[in-house]
Amino acid sequence: MGEAKKLYIKTYGCQMNVYDSERMAEALGGQGYVTTDSPEDADMILLNTCHIREKAAEKVYSELGRFKGLKAEKPDLKIGVAGCVAQAEGEEIMRRQPMVDLVVGPQSYHRLPELEAKAGQGQKALDTDFPVEDKFEILKSRPKAKRGPTAFLTVQEGCDKFCAFCVVPYTRGAEVSRPVIRVLDEARDLVERGVREITLLGQNVNAYHGEGPDGADWSLARLIWELDRIDGLERIRFTTSHPNDMTDDLIAAHGECGKLMPYLHLPVQSGSDRILKRMNRSHDRDSYLRLIEKIRAARPDILISGDFIVGFPEETDQDFEDTMDLIRQVNYGQAFSFKYSTRPGTPAAERAQVDPDVASDRLARLQALITEQQRAIQDAMVGREVGVLFEKKGRMDGQMVGKSDYLHAVHVTDPRAEIGKIARVRITQSGPNSLAGEIV
Ligand code: 5AD
Ligand code: SF4
Repeated sequence: MGEAKKLYIKTYGCQMNVYDSERMAEALGGQGYVTTDSPEDADMILLNTCHIREKAAEKVYSELGRFKGLKAEKPDLKIGVAGCVAQAEGEEIMRRQPMVDLVVGPQSYHRLPELEAKAGQGQKALDTDFPVEDKFEILKSRPKAKRGPTAFLTVQEGCDKFCAFCVVPYTRGAEVSRPVIRVLDEARDLVERGVREITLLGQNVNAYHGEGPDGADWSLARLIWELDRIDGLERIRFTTSHPNDMTDDLIAAHGECGKLMPYLHLPVQSGSDRILKRMNRSHDRDSYLRLIEKIRAARPDILISGDFIVGFPEETDQDFEDTMDLIRQVNYGQAFSFKYSTRPGTPAAERAQVDPDVASDRLARLQALITEQQRAIQDAMVGREVGVLFEKKGRMDGQMVGKSDYLHAVHVTDPRAEIGKIARVRITQSGPNSLAGEIV
């Protein structure tokens, strides 16, 4: 047997891409590849790309440019582009960057072994189909490597909502839920390999409606309650949710299910009813605020996180002030905010754009407000006791870093802090990006 071939994967964008990169590495593991952290050593470089905003795609092209030298030195080096840019612009990538050997979309990465073989024969390999076979099933059951304490698990993919700014319905396709049994099998397997916390992933994860063992459609809440019964699994999270799919059983689970963590990412995008309508969000400001109230009634200490877009076409100063006002009412513990980015092929791309300088000012103001809220919520943790799951060693001697129930990073220096274990920690300090505490 020859020496193992080396695979370097760089992942952009969302957590689903992180999950997909793991699956792709496993798929190529069957072809004799092991992963490496340095592109210089690699026999294959794979960029797992994101298409959600303009800059993301541009980054891919400049990254590819950086590998030109490597490819010249090592003609056998294979370069592949995967993910959502591959899906959207596969053919164009091959034209613009002739050094790319292989292009694979998010729905066909189980076919990577064949594509790799084709590229090995010096042919260009491109697959951006939406195949009927189940990529998750085909990739199942590779070697049972030990895992870290946290893992992602994709349960739902795609989106049927067609927000006017978003490419996801085009790159990831229609909404599909994986059957309950498959999810449970994968979860049990992860737990056997050392995982203590699972984050269920989906572009619209709370719209999950997978086929249950009884033949009926199961909701996300029902799936969570079933996962709750797995011994050794200590924590459950899910992301990303749409306000319209926040069903009563899921809200109730936040109050009743001990393993479901008190953190909810619930993007609203804008606080202006006019803009929400133009975004095709199908919820309004008031329904969102009432929903947050209901969720907090079920779980008063829940940490709310959100996504915001500023400078959406036709957004006026008043629309933006409405967003600021909504943020003040909700009080976010975490948020991701973006300047609107025109995506070709989406409805909003055709509309009157906001002056980029105006959009930048709004983004800065919004981010300042969010940072203030985030910091206040984090500071208020001082003196409280929280569960912390330790994930890795910290930078200082003897220090461990973990995540609290609320997803804050927490530093602890104590020999009892062990990777993969959960301890009760009293928070003693709040820094710019993390907390520090002592085991009680
Ligand atoms: N421009 C800016 N932000 C966008 N998002 C999605 N599409 C765009 C776009 N065209 C943001 C939304 C979404 C998050 C994942 O990315 O806030 O919730
Ligand atoms: Fe995009 Fe809207 Fe679907 Fe989220 S709900 S993936 S923002 S279309």
